[in-house]
Amino acid sequence: MQTQLTKLLGCRYPVIQTAMGWVADARLVAATGNAGGFGFLAGAVMTTEEIEQGILDIKAASDAPFGVNFHMYVPHAEQIVDLCIEHQVRAVSYSRSPSAATVERLKTAGIVCIPTVGAKRHAVKAVEMGADAVVIQGGEGGGHTGSVATSILLPQVRDAIDVPIAAAGGFRDGRGLVAALAMGADGIAMGTRFLLTQESPVPEATKLIYLRTPPEKIVVSTRLDGLPQRMIANAYLDRLIRASQLGLLVRAVKNGLAFSRMTGGSLIATLGGAWKMYRSGDLSFGQTLMAANSPMMIQEAMVKGNPHDGILPSGQVAGLIDDLPTVAELVATIVSDAETAARSIQTTVCTTSNSD
Ligand SMILES: Cc1cc2nc3c(=O)[nH]c(=O)nc-3n(C[C@H](O)[C@H](O)[C@H](O)COP(=O)(O)O)c2cc1C
Repeated sequence: MQTQLTKLLGCRYPVIQTAMGWVADARLVAATGNAGGFGFLAGAVMTTEEIEQGILDIKAASDAPFGVNFHMYVPHAEQIVDLCIEHQVRAVSYSRSPSAATVERLKTAGIVCIPTVGAKRHAVKAVEMGADAVVIQGGEGGGHTGSVATSILLPQVRDAIDVPIAAAGGFRDGRGLVAALAMGADGIAMGTRFLLTQESPVPEATKLIYLRTPPEKIVVSTRLDGLPQRMIANAYLDRLIRASQLGLLVRAVKNGLAFSRMTGGSLIATLGGAWKMYRSGDLSFGQTLMAANSPMMIQEAMVKGNPHDGILPSGQVAGLIDDLPTVAELVATIVSDAETAARSIQTTVCTTSNSD
């Protein structure tokens, strides 16, 4: 099942496991690569040392190519780029583009740059900045997300850019893969579906909540950090919605300090990153102030296993998922179901025209 995307990434199947903070660890990425997909290590919530260890662990468990996701506004962003080059990872992903010079440095080192975008104008801009491919994430996708549904965004972006596209937001099976290919994508990228696998490190209590939640309870809120994020509606989100402005401010400062400690940077360096983020014009002052909320609130549910005391980022597709396969079972089923779906379309079309 080769497409322009598999050629670019060097994987067997056009199926990407996207980066998810606290979730996409070395074990998940290696399992995805071994199954023939392409995994991204979630570097945005890691220190430089943790990313390097993650890269070494993936290489020890798999010969398959893989990528690293990072956030360009963390103080150690350039060190992460150095690491990716030194260890010759196949690809990097990001949602806010590094400078054109950094993208050029990565590309000169032979690393594929594949950002995630949620709007057509961001896709066009990403390609102008040097992206080799893009992941387009429709509004039904988990975590930070846009307002345009995948079924609208995909053809819109396909008509606007020429590089390979992986479609994200709402995918979980082979039928989705065929649908995405038919609409002009070169593959699919999935977060939530990979979160709900045996190899995902998310504690069982939290996985159970995902398995039990219907699609209409997976909502978008700006309450975490001022940007639209899709997550499972729970009591913690309700408390955030009811909190006073002062309460939110105190929480943001606390989380900012905790995030700078966790990523191994000094407070000054973290503030410097926040200033750069604000100056870029992408975020308002309030959004910049709250930027660290998200990773810290997610950690409570996804790492500590307290699903009622934290945020559970999720695509709406969790509402259609009721099993926890191994990654190998998942990828193999997607591929065989896609082949069946493609054949079934041919049969449907032929049967219809024969009976005309
Ligand atoms: C738990 C969770 C954490 C996420 N963390 C990140 C992240 O750290 N960086 C990122 O670029 N995207 C992140 N995302 C977005 C995913 O990478 C992906 O684009 C999205 O899940 C695709 O939609 P789907 O959930 O319908 O498959 C996250 C999504 C989830 C569900």
